[in-house]
Amino acid sequence: MADRFDILLLPGDGIGPEVIGAARRVLDAAADHFGFELACDERLVGAAAIRAEGAPVSEETIQAAKSSDAILFGAVGDPEFDGGDVRPEAGLLALRKALDTFANLRPVAAIPALLDASPLKREIVEGVDVLIVRELTGGSYFGEKVEAFDYSSDLSVYTKEEVVRVARVAFEAAGRRKGRLTSVDKANVMATGRLWRKVVNEVAEEYPDVELDHVLADAAAMHLIQNPRRFDVIVTDNLFGDMLSDEASVLPGSMGMLPSASLGAPGTPGLFEPVHGSAPDIAGKGVANPYAAILTAAMMFRHGLDRPDVSDALERAVSTATEAGFLTRDLGGDKNTEEVTQAVIRWIGAGE
Ligand code: NAI
Ligand code: MG
Repeated sequence: MADRFDILLLPGDGIGPEVIGAARRVLDAAADHFGFELACDERLVGAAAIRAEGAPVSEETIQAAKSSDAILFGAVGDPEFDGGDVRPEAGLLALRKALDTFANLRPVAAIPALLDASPLKREIVEGVDVLIVRELTGGSYFGEKVEAFDYSSDLSVYTKEEVVRVARVAFEAAGRRKGRLTSVDKANVMATGRLWRKVVNEVAEEYPDVELDHVLADAAAMHLIQNPRRFDVIVTDNLFGDMLSDEASVLPGSMGMLPSASLGAPGTPGLFEPVHGSAPDIAGKGVANPYAAILTAAMMFRHGLDRPDVSDALERAVSTATEAGFLTRDLGGDKNTEEVTQAVIRWIGAGE
């Protein structure tokens, strides 16, 4: 069991530094409690990096990311750069591409203490536990782009190999969970969708114990809020995965609760990032919800650093803190980032 970890912190913009600062303190407390050593390097990314270094992510930062054990990322984006040629968000896309983190795992689970924070009815949300596996480095976000005066296009390309590798991640995850996988595509109208479905069916033969079904993306969007308990693991492409996972974020009540892990080939460092953005509307006020960043750190210990014991302890501390009423404003509470962070730190190791 490893007991020394080299982590690259990339807090980014807006509330990124606030929530990563919180997660860092929780990690330090976990290191004390479990007796492991954390070596954290911290660098700029996004708007902060554009201002200081001239690019949304520097080559040195990409090299530092590649040589770390895992990267804990905050969020990028700043209204100052909206509509400009150099966008902070390009820093995140460049990192995902450089690390080849092709599988983005986004768990969405109902948290008992937060059932009333969701805009959906309690009976719909109760017991929801979905894992969305989104393909992250292909499709229309990365295809050739044309921006002419009066037309533009985003080419969406998927190769068989790109579908195989993300499908395997999803089947493996389903095998460890309830054994059900739903593949989401638009095979009725899109060529990439037909390839997607054919390849997922082929990969399914390697996983006879996982029950597979296929749902069209538009119907999946409907099922996700009408009957989210029908899903265990969902696997889908980059574009549909982006939309479905934001839609799914209303289930637990706030973007501020959703962690994610972006994983590449085994043995390469993962990029661990909350689902939310830089939230410029609340940045600098000390009210950002740090749970997503803390749960993201928990995913880092499970999927990147192979310390599920630490991951379990962090997740339990978050549950306990929410049950004890440590809720930020986005969850209908009145606690600030600092109070929530202290509560989580207090409960690390409790109940072992
Ligand atoms: P956003 O996720 O930053 O905010 C959406 C809404 O949720 C806002 O009202 C915000 O206050 C709230 N919110 C989000 N996270 C929260 C938290 N932890 N605690 C409390 N409230 C929270 O998305 P938005 O507003 O569409 O984008 C803002 C900027 O972030 C843009 O520049 C966008 O491009 C960027 N962005 C970056 C992402 C990333 O770095 N992974 C992901 C999504 C957006
Ligand atoms: Mg999104």
